[in-house]
Amino acid sequence: MDKIRIRGGKPLNGQITISGAKNAALPLMATALLTDDTVTLVNVPRLADIDSMAHLLVQLGVEVAMSQRAEREMRLTAADIRDTTAPYDLVRKMRASVLVLGPLLARTGQAQVSLPGGCAIGTRPIDLHLKGLSELGAEIELREGYVQAKVPGGRLKGAKIVFPKVSVGATENLLMAAALAEGETVLVNAAREPEISDLARCLNAMGARIEGIDTETLRIHGVERLRGCRHRIISDRVETGTYMMAAAICDGDLELVGGSLDHIGAVAKSLEEAGLSIAETNRGLRVRRVNGPLTGVDVMTEPFPGFPTDLQAQMMSVMATATGASMITETIFENRFMHVPELCRMGANINVHGASAMVRGVKRLTGAPVMATDLRASVSLVLAGLAAEGETVVNRVYHLDRGYERLEEKLAACGAEIERIAAG
Ligand code: UD1
Repeated sequence: MDKIRIRGGKPLNGQITISGAKNAALPLMATALLTDDTVTLVNVPRLADIDSMAHLLVQLGVEVAMSQRAEREMRLTAADIRDTTAPYDLVRKMRASVLVLGPLLARTGQAQVSLPGGCAIGTRPIDLHLKGLSELGAEIELREGYVQAKVPGGRLKGAKIVFPKVSVGATENLLMAAALAEGETVLVNAAREPEISDLARCLNAMGARIEGIDTETLRIHGVERLRGCRHRIISDRVETGTYMMAAAICDGDLELVGGSLDHIGAVAKSLEEAGLSIAETNRGLRVRRVNGPLTGVDVMTEPFPGFPTDLQAQMMSVMATATGASMITETIFENRFMHVPELCRMGANINVHGASAMVRGVKRLTGAPVMATDLRASVSLVLAGLAAEGETVVNRVYHLDRGYERLEEKLAACGAEIERIAAG
């Protein structure tokens, strides 16, 4: 398994181009199942999760073709859906595979999708997806570890669905399913993440009729048929936030080309409060540490537009070297502090009390061999390694490859001493 080796303490200077958003690309790829026309996605990031989703779609009968023009393009054509099963092996590897459930049901009237099981950051059930789909008329049974779903009569029927809890994935599955349902669907307490708006805009370009985009109430007038379209994926706000934090922890001065403040307002506010300078440029964002060390700020994760849980671990690394204390509270996932013991091994002073972590800033982190159990935790260790004295080796790099395109190249180009050591 590859590793990443970092020698910390180098300032970061330069430009980083932000890739297309992984969490937008995955549901957008699933929209191809809704039409026999070709859906072309532009600005597709080069990531292991994208390959996993492409692999699943190919198994279902979708033709997937990649091409590299100015930006990476993916053409997906589901002229003939051969199979309606998302097998355990794929869903286990990548939970977002459950996003094929809504589209398959809407297009073919049936789907078998493995239950994802737990994951490192929590139990992560899919009950809200299933409840919503049954409200649209699907009959759902759980058998042999699989969701076995079918639609009596073949076509889903619009309904009012009130989510008791905000869920990104459930909103996406329901949005895609409702686009082809008969009549009107209203999703109340829907997630408002930018990736949901990107999905809704793509569906509308395919001929769907979705109103209320960017709000917590989505109204979908079902249509009989959707057509193909060409859609450019928004830039990755989690990647943008991660590199903002790299500048924060490293005394850096970075221009994040393609980064947008619209999608990262809560994060920018916390980092500015801590002392980071953030300015919009005509190509993106410039982030700089101008007045010495940052100061501790309190952060609580929330659904969009709040502080994203996907940047909590990275923020904790930044706060580990800030002056003063910071209380970091995780409200989305119940077990998302797996990075804490590893950061402590690098000299951080962090105490976890239930859903909150008290971070007392230390003057210096020290390099160590570390490993993490999920994507965002892994990158938080890379950030800590960039600031630490001495050498840090981050193991289990496959987590990083799921969500960060050419991470080590992008950082090395800005002066970081970071390299990938290929498994020998
Ligand atoms: C998506 C993102 C992930 C991000 C998360 C929260 C993708 C591919 N992944 O994950 O990076 O961390 O949003 O912003 O976009 N829940 C239930 N029942 C359900 C569904 C969810 O109880 O049926 C709970 C979850 O366990 C979690 C919370 O709701 O505690 C939010 O989860 P959700 O928004 O659904 O996250 P994902 O879509 O899985």
